[in-house]
Amino acid sequence: MTDLAAAFERVFELAEKGRYSTSPNPRVGAVVVASGGAIVGEGWHDQAGGPHAEVVALAEAGSRARGATVVLNLEPCAHEGRTPPCAGSLVDAGVARVVFCTLDPDPRTAGKGREWLRSAGVATQTGPFSERAERLNEPFLVSVRRGRPFVHLKWAASLDGKIASATGESRWITGEEARADGMRLREECDAILVGAGTVLADDPALTRRAGLNRSILPHRRIVVDGRLRVGAGRRVFSPDAPGEAWLATAVEEKDPRLDPFRERGVRILTLPIAGSNRVDLTSLLAELALREVRSLLVEGGGETAWGFLEARLADRVTGFHAPLLLGGRDAPSALSGAGCADLADAPRLEGLELASLGDGYRFSGRPCWPGAA
Ligand SMILES: NC(=O)c1ccc[n+]([C@@H]2O[C@H](COP(=O)([O-])OP(=O)(O)OC[C@H]3O[C@@H](n4cnc5c(N)ncnc54)[C@H](OP(=O)(O)O)[C@@H]3O)[C@@H](O)[C@H]2O)c1
Repeated sequence: MTDLAAAFERVFELAEKGRYSTSPNPRVGAVVVASGGAIVGEGWHDQAGGPHAEVVALAEAGSRARGATVVLNLEPCAHEGRTPPCAGSLVDAGVARVVFCTLDPDPRTAGKGREWLRSAGVATQTGPFSERAERLNEPFLVSVRRGRPFVHLKWAASLDGKIASATGESRWITGEEARADGMRLREECDAILVGAGTVLADDPALTRRAGLNRSILPHRRIVVDGRLRVGAGRRVFSPDAPGEAWLATAVEEKDPRLDPFRERGVRILTLPIAGSNRVDLTSLLAELALREVRSLLVEGGGETAWGFLEARLADRVTGFHAPLLLGGRDAPSALSGAGCADLADAPRLEGLELASLGDGYRFSGRPCWPGAA
């Protein structure tokens, strides 16, 4: 006999299986609970273009789906996308009740899936475990609601917030566990971005190395370099790396300095300028959204991370902190830029999560600015 809480536990386990593969689609798990209480069908969404969780679970349940309760973490879709609408499949299977955590904000569904079920006489319940479901699908839900990619700032720092020493040494501030966790974050997102300063200092490749990501989207490695200080020979622009390398800049599209980048197959985004010669980050995110990028991991440095935060474009901040005290006036900080003049104006992290990681720790939270909704 499966109660609703146990059914949801299984739903979340199933949805987790799609953590590294469903983008640009959400992570969804579904179970079919027969009237006697037994789970007779299970499914999860694995990849965009493939069957949705509900359809997989219904197929396993077969005729046992008639009169059953279907439990899932997201409202069933009401639109024909890469696959037919799940609300229709649930009605056709004759289920009696559908329970899910959150509505799907995609305007093509947004309550219409629930309405489809109700008007066909299927009972619905929305809301259990909604916080857990929000966290599970944060990149998808935030990006659909905001109409731009979910932006995740990440850094590795000393306890006093330094991301490199005064002489520029940054490898490796944190231990193996933290680095592995940071690599896992790379697998979860559709694109990774750094500023010109980081490319000049560290020459990072920005590749995924854990081999977990199976999404249909190419991995994008992005450099923001307003004045073009970085050369095309840097590792991040290697044509041999999987995915695509992008350069976001404010220089003229016809600037001949862009030719070596084009020759290496780098995609150039010449973007409007906001403020003091800065690439307008809202325009950059709009360009990424056009290419189905749901989530962007910003890996520094401090100047770039502050740019996203200050523009109110950062949705999550995760810091890995090692038990080190680096100090140094000239040592770069996790966040630099102009900073906040007054304590009362500083953003605070909501939903703060703390975890021990090796000899250090990881924190993660949602930055909320005073007065923001
Ligand atoms: N431990 C870690 O997690 C970590 C991660 C990354 C970096 N780091 C360290 O951080 C240091 C570099 O940080 P940083 O703050 O100096 O540099 P950064 O943030 O990597 O790069 C800043 C530069 O990028 C360009 N840029 C950023 N946002 C822009 C925008 N909106 N429009 C146009 N250009 C933009 C600007 O170049 P222009 O000034 O030319 O316009 C800016 O000066 C290095 O020491 C590196 O080792 C550590």
